Amino acid sequence: MISADKIPNNVGLAGNKRLLRALEHWQPAYLDWWREMGPPGFQDSHQVYLRTAVSVDAAGWAHFDYVKLPEYRWGIFLAEPTHDRRIGFGDFMGQPVWQEVPGEFRNQLRRLIVIQGDTEPASVEQQRSLGAHCPSLYDLRNLFQVNVEEGRHLWAMVYLLHSYFGRDGRDEAEALLERRSGNDDTPRMLEAFNEPIDTWLDFFAFTMFTDRDGKSQLLSLSESSLDPLARTTRFMLTEEAHHMFVGETGMARILERTCQLLRDSGFSGDVRKVGGIDLPLIQKFVNFWFSQSLDLHGSEVSSNAATYFANGLKGRAEEDKFEDDHVLAANLYMLDMLDDSGRIIRQEVPMRNALNEVLRDWYVGDCQAGVDRWNKRVLEAHGMSERIALPSRKFNRKVGVYAGRHFDPLGNQLTPGEWERKKSEWLPSPEDKKYLHSIQVTPVYKPGQFANYIAPPQRGINRMPIDFEYVRTEA
Ligand SMILES: [Fe+2]
Ligand SMILES: [Fe+2]
Repeated sequence: MISADKIPNNVGLAGNKRLLRALEHWQPAYLDWWREMGPPGFQDSHQVYLRTAVSVDAAGWAHFDYVKLPEYRWGIFLAEPTHDRRIGFGDFMGQPVWQEVPGEFRNQLRRLIVIQGDTEPASVEQQRSLGAHCPSLYDLRNLFQVNVEEGRHLWAMVYLLHSYFGRDGRDEAEALLERRSGNDDTPRMLEAFNEPIDTWLDFFAFTMFTDRDGKSQLLSLSESSLDPLARTTRFMLTEEAHHMFVGETGMARILERTCQLLRDSGFSGDVRKVGGIDLPLIQKFVNFWFSQSLDLHGSEVSSNAATYFANGLKGRAEEDKFEDDHVLAANLYMLDMLDDSGRIIRQEVPMRNALNEVLRDWYVGDCQAGVDRWNKRVLEAHGMSERIALPSRKFNRKVGVYAGRHFDPLGNQLTPGEWERKKSEWLPSPEDKKYLHSIQVTPVYKPGQFANYIAPPQRGINRMPIDFEYVRTEA
């Protein structure tokens, strides 16, 4: 029997018979999924110092305590409603937002929610092997925090499916627990969510770049005319911020440690000889996860994007910061396209059709700001001349106009032969992976200790000391 008081929420769950009934079937299936696909070996005998959202106000959304992972209280939260909220873009601009799903947009909205929902459990599946190879208890705890919150994000999307999409929604909610990341027969829906994340460098690059795609998608959904979708995603963004913190600071700490090792060797040594991660290898992971995440934003020219915007389903990130008319009926966008012979040409397309690219612009800017912080606060501060750089958005694309062609990280076009010869200079090779596996073979489970390839963080979680026992084993 499902009990509403075990599920923290601000959606009136106790009095919502329809939702309770739907969750009665779904919640046990969710827990089965968590036990099967969540972190192996950390389900029953470990207590993890986790943040749980118990309400959306300042006091309640960051409640810290030790919890066993399967006993985490996955809740359902919507950000507080905005009084008299109006549709902020598209053809229905200025009308009151919707509290129910309009019949004519039902399929489109369901698709948007399912695609978002599918990424959440996917990332838990991708990251499941990492706990056995963690660089510290601090990092282990952060991994699990990200995992349980991705689980909660799945709950958030399932809440919408159960509440607003009837039978179809319940079927989709089941299917979200049935697909598996990387499975040949039942893969997750988007490519980046089928890639394994089995090294900690992958994890930090993923949380830096792919969770940031989550941020741009959630920002655009939080503009939606469907108010429950807007409010759900707005609350998810508060959690997403921590995921990107984990990624950005994780990469920064690896860079920091690499600089220390280089300094100790008089800047001449091979850091791999002392168990560090060399800068070119870090750059390759930036190239890989950044380009994968660019693909997640979809094709440069997209009639779906135009329809979503026109109908008010999905806006631009931070729509109110745009100075144009928010309707975009006659505006144009200049795009780099390819002509039939593969030459790059500038082409004007209707702005509504270019909205995937507009969101990608926002995303690239947000990534660049993070990379600039690494360069300034770590590499420059250590007196290094090397810099981390984002590759061209043409590099390594599988989706959109550049798919099927080859470009180097600066955006110069290559022949297939040149690409084959040089790609392992720019993307992680099997040897690189092998090296990273070799330095994370032995996990570090002692409080306050860190693997040799990563510097300690500047401070602990929730003002706890760095050597706090963030994950403890039950006797
Ligand atoms: Fe998420
Ligand atoms: Fe996330």
